[in-house]
Amino acid sequence: MSWHRPHLLDIESLSADEILTVLDTAKAFKAVGERAIKKVPALRGRTVVNLFIEPSTRTRTSFELSEQRLSADIINFTAEASSLKKGETLKDTARNLEALNVDFIVIRHSAAGAAHFLSRVLNTHVINAGDGAHEHPTQALLDAFTIRERKGKIEGLNVTILGDILFSRVARSNIWALTKLGAKVTLCGPSTLVPRTFEQMGCRVTHDVDAALRDADIIHLLRIQHERQRKTMFPSIGEYTTLFGLNKARLAKARPDALIMHPGPVNRGVEIDNEIADSARSLILEQVTNGIAVRMAVLFLVNGGKGPQEIAAG
Ligand code: CP
Repeated sequence: MSWHRPHLLDIESLSADEILTVLDTAKAFKAVGERAIKKVPALRGRTVVNLFIEPSTRTRTSFELSEQRLSADIINFTAEASSLKKGETLKDTARNLEALNVDFIVIRHSAAGAAHFLSRVLNTHVINAGDGAHEHPTQALLDAFTIRERKGKIEGLNVTILGDILFSRVARSNIWALTKLGAKVTLCGPSTLVPRTFEQMGCRVTHDVDAALRDADIIHLLRIQHERQRKTMFPSIGEYTTLFGLNKARLAKARPDALIMHPGPVNRGVEIDNEIADSARSLILEQVTNGIAVRMAVLFLVNGGKGPQEIAAG
């Protein structure tokens, strides 16, 4: 077991051992979540600011619940009602929060590198909750946790990530996590959104959706990130759905035990059919549930927690 980092900024810089430490610690926290009393005192007396300067449903609520379960004091920063609207910079905003003696800043921002930047200018712990198209490390950790829980392993699995890879922080963090843990990752989607340069990250790239789905143990779908595209990267949503959407006919050609994942928000009828999103093969809501234990593990380890043995003992 190993974790000696004051921040969680990305998956790229983590070792496989560090990723496994988070997953094992999350497993212990998931067991805590099944007890009658779900709270532990690990962050009692510590203050966490959830600094979300980009919209979020899952990540924000899941961080907040995780912090509550760890007994932290919580401030939910509302960008729209803040002095960011009056022109205050991110650095000044964060340094003012630090001056209030907060211990953790969980940041989501549209700019790639925002979390790394804060970790350089602050003395608080910084956790990246998604920075532009760069990384979304806790999403990749909860995805890896969900895969390991359902398939019993990650090493040797075929994982296909299908959709807008180019603009997706979820894709980047998943590629780093899954390849470090020994999965074989295939990327698929329109050639404008899945360039061959991703092969340099150790992935197979194909634009043939049937070939991408054929041997997949996990089919991980991504939505089109319209908010990050400066121009349209394919003719129309209808054409995307026709060529790359996961429908019953396409899924019938995949392995019968292939499981479906999606980080959300889901665009039903675009990247995935309604019926498939709600089917027994869909792990979409399990991913959300597992986000609590995984984010508890990250906060606990970043705060200096030793690992799962400490939770079991506590
Ligand atoms: N998966 C994810 O990041 O969802 P939110 O944008 O709702 O947090």
